[in-house]
Amino acid sequence: MLEETWFENLPVKTIGRQIRCFKKVTSTNDLAWLEVSRGSPEGTVIFADEQLKGRGRFNRSWHAPKDAGIWASVILKPDMPIEKSSLLMVIGAIAICKLLKDKFQLDAKIRWPNDVIINERKIAGIIVETKCIASKPEAMILGIGFNINMKSEEIPADLNQIVTSLYMETGALINQKDIFRQFLMYLDNWYQKVLSKQENEISDAWKNMSGIIGAEIALEVEGKTVEGKVIDIDLHKGITLKTQEGAKVFRGENATLLRCKKS
Ligand code: BTN
Repeated sequence: MLEETWFENLPVKTIGRQIRCFKKVTSTNDLAWLEVSRGSPEGTVIFADEQLKGRGRFNRSWHAPKDAGIWASVILKPDMPIEKSSLLMVIGAIAICKLLKDKFQLDAKIRWPNDVIINERKIAGIIVETKCIASKPEAMILGIGFNINMKSEEIPADLNQIVTSLYMETGALINQKDIFRQFLMYLDNWYQKVLSKQENEISDAWKNMSGIIGAEIALEVEGKTVEGKVIDIDLHKGITLKTQEGAKVFRGENATLLRCKKS
């Protein structure tokens, strides 16, 4: 069970300055929006042991059983337009990927735009929600689900072949306090690069970890399937595909990667 005392003296600048831990919630994102309406500062993190209605991108549900993962929502108020909010999803994915490589020597990758995968199975997913007041973002909520001590029998049958956890990859139960603290430190470190506008460093890390350039892929965009070879990915513009009808650009927020064959 989570405890706020785990986070005492956390060496972070922004993310994790204030932490709220809950036992059972609908979605930590709901609680984060409530905190925003109460004036909670940037960097406030909401954690829960369990979510009953966790949500993912495209209104998909997110499976978040008790004590099985990091179910987190972070309140952010960067001085950036809403069109750039995908940068937050990107640094979320990079932070987790780096943590898995550095601390567990796992071959983690980013599945464009921002799933974290190991051996093609998803270990973490990221969502950004935004609300505007007078066309200025009031706040951005970075929601992250990261499967930690989830056992294969806790995974619903339809997800069993496509989902993994840190426990399943390492074969050992993970110390919750350590991983929650490391998670916030890595996330805060990459968020500082957003604040200091180090976009080239973010872009390079994202490109390296996704390894998608040159791959033959299929995307689902607004109910249609599009196939092509990836020419480039750009943090803000999206993915450029060479298709039979010429070059086309798609934004990550609108697309789901269906297939990816790397050369
Ligand atoms: C995705 O892969 O589609 C994104 C999944 C994001 C899930 C997390 S769990 C914590 C936070 N609260 C939610 O309801 N969703 C995010």
